[in-house]
Amino acid sequence: NTNLKGKDLLTLKDLSSDDIMSLLESAIELKEKHKNGEIVTSLKGKTLGLIFEKSSTRTRVSFEAGMMQLGGNALFLSSQDLQIGRGETIADTARVLSEFIDAIMIRTFEHSKIEELADYASIPVINGLTDDYHPCQALADLLTIYEHKKSFEGLKVAYVGDGNNVAHSLMIACAKMGIDISIGCPDGYEPKDFVTAYVHEIAATTGAKVTITKDPIEAVKNADAIYADVWTSMGQEEEAQQRLKIFAPYQVNEELASYAKSDYLFLHCLPAHREEEVTASVIDGPNSVVFQQAGNRMHVQKALLQAILA
Ligand code: CP
Ligand code: NVA
Repeated sequence: NTNLKGKDLLTLKDLSSDDIMSLLESAIELKEKHKNGEIVTSLKGKTLGLIFEKSSTRTRVSFEAGMMQLGGNALFLSSQDLQIGRGETIADTARVLSEFIDAIMIRTFEHSKIEELADYASIPVINGLTDDYHPCQALADLLTIYEHKKSFEGLKVAYVGDGNNVAHSLMIACAKMGIDISIGCPDGYEPKDFVTAYVHEIAATTGAKVTITKDPIEAVKNADAIYADVWTSMGQEEEAQQRLKIFAPYQVNEELASYAKSDYLFLHCLPAHREEEVTASVIDGPNSVVFQQAGNRMHVQKALLQAILA
């Protein structure tokens, strides 16, 4: 992975299929070492700053723990405590942090904000979720699928619900790895056109089939994995009531899941709302791998940090 040294990860567009595959291999190795209690100190002396403008459980803890496991340090920087919260510009913040630390992870709203941060920072910037993308999540999703299916060949992944940041990154991830991806979403909640256009472009080179449909049954038919995310993302709270109604037909329940392959995997980036986007019977059922998937955030991010910083 030497070719990722010093690079940003703003979206999965920044990674080739080969880059992704080698990150997954490296994550599997690091995960095995972690299980065996083997200490790795590849990031000794390195510091990662974590800027959060939205809440987080998994992203914060997986980056902090992962960084420390590799012998480095992590700094949690809430935007409420940073001078950003009092109007210091992103550009100045980027230039100042570049004097102190080795990389920045940021979770924010508009994707343009992370682009601005990356423009002004002289150190690598990693996307910990923006309104448009969640690339680290999609890497963990791929790792989880790979662990179970042993290969990406001939697979179909179905995402049911809002065509949001998580859907966008999952689509790019699948297209890059040659996995068929089908999105089942209501009218008006499709993935953004600029993402779909890019995904079609990539899919044409890898042979992945891309489907976007209003029909959740068509989406999950014969799928090897079903993916759900919340119906109301962070920042959309005032639309929550309306979204409950619009997305109701897109709930992942046993009836809908019965159209997928019998050994389908159920994936969810979490946090989940039981009996909204997914029933307890599915997310707590035998096909669900959501906690392994959450754990894989740390393993794959350790691989990423090592590739970028070591
Ligand atoms: N899936 C995910 O990013 O979770 P957090 O919001 O808890 O970080
Ligand atoms: N789509 C969700 C994902 C949370 C991890 C959000 O943006 O809030």
